[in-house]
Amino acid sequence: NKETHNRMNALKYMGQSESIRMDQLLMGQQYGFSVDQLMELAGLSVAASVQKCYGSLARSPKRVLAICGPGNNGGDGLVASRHLVHFGYAVDVLYPKRTDKDLYKNLVLQCQHVGISFLDNMPAESELTSRYGLVIDSIFGYSFKGDIRAPFDSIIKTLTGLNSQSLPIASVDIPSGWDVEQGNVNNTFTPSLLISLAAPKKCAESFKGTHYLGGRFLPQSFLDEFQLNLPQYPGAEQCVDISLQPSSS
Ligand SMILES: *[C@@H]1O[C@H](CO)[C@@H](O)[C@H](O)[C@H]1NC(C)=O
Repeated sequence: NKETHNRMNALKYMGQSESIRMDQLLMGQQYGFSVDQLMELAGLSVAASVQKCYGSLARSPKRVLAICGPGNNGGDGLVASRHLVHFGYAVDVLYPKRTDKDLYKNLVLQCQHVGISFLDNMPAESELTSRYGLVIDSIFGYSFKGDIRAPFDSIIKTLTGLNSQSLPIASVDIPSGWDVEQGNVNNTFTPSLLISLAAPKKCAESFKGTHYLGGRFLPQSFLDEFQLNLPQYPGAEQCVDISLQPSSS
């Protein structure tokens, strides 16, 4: 529709260094957010996006599998997993490279308290499709650079082999394996849903699937400073659909 199209024209896609600067500024003295707060808001919006986009598709008897990387993007996935349990989903987490910091240890503890089980290994394709209704990819985020190390190389390979009709993937902020600015340069998987956090990154410009924006907390002065013209979030919702094309799912 025309209104959506006009809104999209104004949407700004952020580069890698600008995204890093944005988070540093948010956590600095001027804006005063803590990393825990940003992670909680990001994870909550991921969970809300999954509920809005997939509803009962990923519900019992199907489960949700969240794959969490070692950094902040993985932390967002841990928070999202906990909220999804409160939304009525059954969630398993694969978190193979754990970060030795209190923030992350507490997120794991909180997940365990709501009954989330942590897998030891990436399930094989047949087990993935029979057991799960959705995979959340929170492996790498906007600061990713360089080569993908084990075990994430083989995990991404398995995800790339999946048929999105039988098991959709929802990526948090950046589809893992993609270049943050150039997009899918190495022909890895394309998620069915991309949930951009705070503002979309350059790789999302070429993304054709369902695209949500989450992270509804940036003050107007901050939006002005970064010349961000973000769409309006409806009501009290934590996410807004910013897809370029109507979802085909
Ligand atoms: C793509 O593959 C090349 C060659 O293996 C590698 O150097 C590069 O880091 C990869 N890009 C991404 C985004 O993973």
